[in-house]
Amino acid sequence: MCHDEAAGVPSRPSSIHDDSTSTAPSANPSYASQPFTNATSATDNDDDDSAYGELIARSTCSITSAEYLFEKRNGRTYHTFGGDRNAYVLPNDELERDRLDMQFWAIHECFSGRYFFAPLAPNPQAILDIGTGTGTWAIDVGERYPSASVTGTDLSPIQPGWVPPNVSFELHDCTVRPWEFSARFDLIHTQLINGFAVRDEGWEDFYRECYGNLRPGGWVESHEFDLKLRSDDNSIPEPSAVQKWLEAWNEGAGGGFRTNGAKLAAAMGKARLVDVVVKKFKLPVGVWDKTQLNSGMLSLVAMTEHIEGLSNRIFMENLGMSQEEMKAYTDPVVREFRTKSVHGYWDMCVIVTLFELL
Ligand SMILES: C[S@@+](CC[C@H](N)C(=O)[O-])C[C@H]1O[C@@H](n2cnc3c(N)ncnc32)[C@H](O)[C@@H]1O
Repeated sequence: MCHDEAAGVPSRPSSIHDDSTSTAPSANPSYASQPFTNATSATDNDDDDSAYGELIARSTCSITSAEYLFEKRNGRTYHTFGGDRNAYVLPNDELERDRLDMQFWAIHECFSGRYFFAPLAPNPQAILDIGTGTGTWAIDVGERYPSASVTGTDLSPIQPGWVPPNVSFELHDCTVRPWEFSARFDLIHTQLINGFAVRDEGWEDFYRECYGNLRPGGWVESHEFDLKLRSDDNSIPEPSAVQKWLEAWNEGAGGGFRTNGAKLAAAMGKARLVDVVVKKFKLPVGVWDKTQLNSGMLSLVAMTEHIEGLSNRIFMENLGMSQEEMKAYTDPVVREFRTKSVHGYWDMCVIVTLFELL
């Protein structure tokens, strides 16, 4: 519904690190720049954190060869790879993978089954998906474009192992620059990394890095949404539990989660990317839009069933709330989302741009 034209769980070895039982190093600037060694000594019972610097060090390494650690907090697991382990505050366990998949398919339905909108030339050679999550986009695009080598990158190795031969995944922190990929890409794609991997004015630098990693004639495409829930019929109550929660969430996560197509298009322009096109979609939450029932239902379940995972680190750690205090925010949110008379949606933007040799 365009209204504006301008799990599989991988069975790889992992070491779960429980934050409550150790003195893991906090984020430090040298964390992402130490040499990577394949440390085979870490086990599930290994409480010795001295291996951390060696284990999780380089900004990029092959996921299939990596031994890695997850960190356990409040019964959930989180990534520890990358320059700042506190920058991405959502979990990476099986429950979260379910949420990511639901959210992914909600957006895919909303896009009427499109994976991207860039008019890619036939037989692309290389495609990159940054912040790939469970890797669904990379896998599906790899299946559709066998000529291309498709790379998905993320802080967490949560992608399946059974993938098409032209698809691969890398642990890579996109905030660590310059990127050192071995290919130049025909298409660089991102979806839902705003506020996490890139926030606010960071987009210009991010797109500059994209520019440096594209082939002439290559495309960059971002799919991002504005955190503010909207309705066209004033059906969001005033005051709204959802808005209150979203505002606290944004603040607790350090801000930067409000964006829109115009802002990202401007960032692309400043990064010398040209021919920017913005498409706006409405991503519904709930089953109030008869043309978007699947999308609305998936969004609703992704929000209501997973509100704890979305909230706990931000509310309990960053904002210092107790579980009860957090639930005072989240319980009314679930009720409001489930109210059929509330016709909420998120502005979901697709921003596509072409790289031309000037
Ligand atoms: C909300 S998820 C979106 C996943 C996927 N793009 C999708 O649409 O389903 C955000 C993803 O970005 C990843 N991420 C966050 N910060 C990152 C960074 N600095 N570098 C690479 N990936 C990052 C997270 O690990 C997570 O998988």
